[in-house]
Amino acid sequence: MIQFPKDFIWGSATSSYQIEGARKEGGKGPSIWDAFCEIPSRIQNGDNGDIACDHYHRFEEDIALMKKMGLKAYRFSIAWPRIQPTGKGKANQEGIAFYSRLIDTLLQHDIEPWVTLYHWDLPLALQLEEDGWTGDNISDYFAAYANICFEHFGDRVKNWITLNEPWVIAILGYGQAIFAPGRTSNSEPYLAGHNLIKAHAKAVEIYRKKYQSTQKGRIGITNNCDWREPLTDKKEDKEAAERALEFFLAWFADPIYKGHYPESMVKRLGDRLPKFTKEEIQMIKGSSDFFGLNHYTTMLAANATGEITQNNVFGNGGLSEDQDVELSADPNWEKTAMQWGIVPWGCRKLLEWIDQRYDRPEIYITENGCALDDKIINGEVHDPKRIKFYKTYLEECHKAIQNGVALKGYFAWSFMDNFEWASGYAKRFGIHYIDFETLERTPKASAKWLREVIEQNGF
Ligand code: GAL
Repeated sequence: MIQFPKDFIWGSATSSYQIEGARKEGGKGPSIWDAFCEIPSRIQNGDNGDIACDHYHRFEEDIALMKKMGLKAYRFSIAWPRIQPTGKGKANQEGIAFYSRLIDTLLQHDIEPWVTLYHWDLPLALQLEEDGWTGDNISDYFAAYANICFEHFGDRVKNWITLNEPWVIAILGYGQAIFAPGRTSNSEPYLAGHNLIKAHAKAVEIYRKKYQSTQKGRIGITNNCDWREPLTDKKEDKEAAERALEFFLAWFADPIYKGHYPESMVKRLGDRLPKFTKEEIQMIKGSSDFFGLNHYTTMLAANATGEITQNNVFGNGGLSEDQDVELSADPNWEKTAMQWGIVPWGCRKLLEWIDQRYDRPEIYITENGCALDDKIINGEVHDPKRIKFYKTYLEECHKAIQNGVALKGYFAWSFMDNFEWASGYAKRFGIHYIDFETLERTPKASAKWLREVIEQNGF
């Protein structure tokens, strides 16, 4: 059994819209996901998060399960429309009370809360009245909302994540219309991305100026990235793979760690990539205390020939026509139910790439896991394929640490089966099985396996 460092953080993650339900309770306003799910044919089987895992009512039961599993940390997100039903103005006390109880219950069970401020459920009013993430003032609204959260929860929350996966928000929400708010454009994603970076930095500035010295917490951002392996040894393919990583991860991480967008994006996007002012750069550069990373899969990258092929259109890594990268999968890779290749070594290579490009930041894998169509048999869920996934990815994480990467923690996605966005309830990532008819929770074999790993690692 490989040993991780003693202070390694072992956790699991969820997000508000995917698990809470209670769509209209506690004074919550509508979010863009409530609205998006109402549009016919956007979500598989017409599913929605109205009830989800009913975590809003059953959080105590869920935390008891976390305790049983030996988790030391739990990453969840706050639903902005529970705190500010229209995204502006004064705080909704019922929303504050709900998250306060959740945080207190976690702490009573010795589980450290890792709180994400935004995991995609934008208050609908901000979309309709302010153009969502493309609006001029959106970063200020986000900073004001973040301020409310620091003020009410910062005495107990010591790990803050501003945004979850700005790439997904920008590309799937504003470029490809796969996620809320369902827009299609080849320029809006870059504007949304620009505002997301500013929103992150403004929230961090408030935290550092007003709260950090007394509350003594840390704040960062979580970006997502797949690994891009060059299809061949050819120089053009190696450059294509690098460019694909720049359009994916460096788009958001370069401004924060280096103070500017990657050169490849600046060159190729021209006026579609907005510019930061000098003051903004000052605020953005250095605005993350740690590097949050969500990682799931790997694809092969080749320099695009200019033809529109199936892979080229798919372009899971930025708008494909902008980056000129053709993506494909090795047919020998095993796949998850999302058709994502299981490629553990890609995880290590990505960690090492981040380590080098950003000068050894402290990295936390804030999501990693796999979707499988698990079945319950005699009261138990056997999920050997998921155990193998976790085992092999963790082995590669361990190798990365041995190679000098400052990987400090790992959060399994997800704590329980939940509403998987446009895929509805069909694709299940949980280490706890949920029967969505009865809402019964059952630990899967992978939860038991992870518990052993955590125990053997010194807790
Ligand atoms: C991430 C996202 C999660 C979850 C996961 C699996 O992109 O943050 O909410 O859905 O992917 O698809």
